[in-house]
Amino acid sequence: MVIGASGNSANFASWKGLETPPEMDERQFSQWTALLRAKTGMRLSKERKSFLITSLNLRMREIGYHNYQSYYEYLQSGKAGKLEWTALVDRLTVHETRFFRDQNAMAFLESECVEILSQDNSELQIWSAGCSTGEEPYSIAMLVESLLEKQHKKKYYGISATDISLMSLAKAKRGVFNRKRLEQVPDEMVFEYFEEQKNLQYKVKDRIKSRICFAQMNILDCATARLGKADVIYCQNLLIYFDQDKRTEILNGMVIHLKPGGVLILGPGEVIEWNNPLVNREKHNKVLAYRRLKNS
Ligand SMILES: C[S@@+](CC[C@H](N)C(=O)[O-])C[C@H]1O[C@@H](n2cnc3c(N)ncnc32)[C@H](O)[C@@H]1O
Repeated sequence: MVIGASGNSANFASWKGLETPPEMDERQFSQWTALLRAKTGMRLSKERKSFLITSLNLRMREIGYHNYQSYYEYLQSGKAGKLEWTALVDRLTVHETRFFRDQNAMAFLESECVEILSQDNSELQIWSAGCSTGEEPYSIAMLVESLLEKQHKKKYYGISATDISLMSLAKAKRGVFNRKRLEQVPDEMVFEYFEEQKNLQYKVKDRIKSRICFAQMNILDCATARLGKADVIYCQNLLIYFDQDKRTEILNGMVIHLKPGGVLILGPGEVIEWNNPLVNREKHNKVLAYRRLKNS
């Protein structure tokens, strides 16, 4: 995963007027990249060294550390280290997201939901993997809710939304967004599914919120995660942060959580070579999706 660029505020400009961050030698850089890769799957190229140095130092300064080694050791130390790790991961990950971000993938998802909801006694379970601050699972919930309303149907649906970043999940659970963030949400949905608050803030209504279960999960652990089976797994702009081996490992883990006939929707170009005997690639020229075989 990861490696902040546009989505992170950390940059050398932040050091203006402050002491220069300590040098990081080759051995230290390898030590940090190995740790990040082992814990998060994050790959960090040499070109991103300055980003690592800046992010680490900003965090180290906040909690009073002045050298990499002692901070490294602190991160490995019991409960406090674990907590600190979540704060650091938050700094190093890209959380950029938007409501209804990929129109093609959303249209594909919609047709999938229409199909499932048209079946008798059906219910719908969706997993938004790498949900960031919630715009993606809320978009999905609004889409399903509006479909059900159009069809005058009452059916059960639920969305599991997972991310490694506790800070992002906390914001997602609050479900409060500035009006500017809602630009891609159709007006009728803003009216129907949000409550206006003070200062141009909009809060997602409880009937939408209650459909989503937010939980922390490192996607590298997804194969063994306790998740029910999903009709749809929606995973966008997450795999791009992993190298090919890790992507394959994650995808194989995700498929375990797909119902037979269920579909995994990815971002365009996020997977180049992946073969798994449980799935077939969907024929679609704008959306990358894989369907689990019905008899698997
Ligand atoms: C760029 S955002 C994508 C958000 C959303 N899916 C979208 O397309 O708009 C990537 C998200 O993946 C999360 N992430 C990165 N590495 C992860 C990991 N190892 N396990 C789970 N989530 C991870 C980040 O915290 C971040 O919120």
